[in-house]
Amino acid sequence: MTKRPLIVGLGGTVRAGSTTEKALICALKAAEAKGAETHLLGGAFLSGLPIFDPRPGETNAAQQELADAIRRADGVIVASPGYHGSISGVIKNALDTLELTRTDAEPYLSHKAVGTIITADGWQAAGTTLMALRAIIHALRGWPTPFGAALNAGVSLFDEAGDCRDQKDAWQLATVAEQVVEFAQMKALSR
Ligand SMILES: Cc1cc2nc3c(=O)[nH]c(=O)nc-3n(C[C@H](O)[C@H](O)[C@H](O)COP(=O)(O)O)c2cc1C
Repeated sequence: MTKRPLIVGLGGTVRAGSTTEKALICALKAAEAKGAETHLLGGAFLSGLPIFDPRPGETNAAQQELADAIRRADGVIVASPGYHGSISGVIKNALDTLELTRTDAEPYLSHKAVGTIITADGWQAAGTTLMALRAIIHALRGWPTPFGAALNAGVSLFDEAGDCRDQKDAWQLATVAEQVVEFAQMKALSR
């Protein structure tokens, strides 16, 4: 592949210093190390999106920015906290907003690998949230990566530089990134 694949990261929470967003940034850095270009749409951006309204009408600039970023992406990484056993409303609303791509030749997340990262204060919510996110990615015609990262945020996960304190977490995030980049590169070769 001559062109660097573009990997778009969607995720984080409204909370300043979001653990979920830090995890996503680590994964995007790992994707860059594998040769990708990356673009982050973090918690502040996603929480500023209006609640998706399916009735025909005006879409705002942020909604268009999200839809266009996904159209351009060769791969996507979604990072959500576990909120009451599933993904957060902010992340679900961003994914609902992809309805704007419904009539495209390649709608939603078609032909894209989608890496998954979950943070939660316990393993039970991490597991159920990962399953929920994968089901949504399937509904959006995406290809969830074989490996999904599940981080237990009950302890401090990142140091002051934003790096993982635990090598196992660093490995999880790098593995998600590697699988998304690898799929994008294989897809480019097959075209
Ligand atoms: C509304 C809400 C619901 C939550 N529900 C759960 C839950 O069901 N199980 C769990 O383990 N953690 C739960 N948590 C904790 C978050 O998943 C966890 O703190 C996450 O890492 C927060 O991400 P952040 O640092 O990016 O804000 C919840 C937090 C909030 C604010």
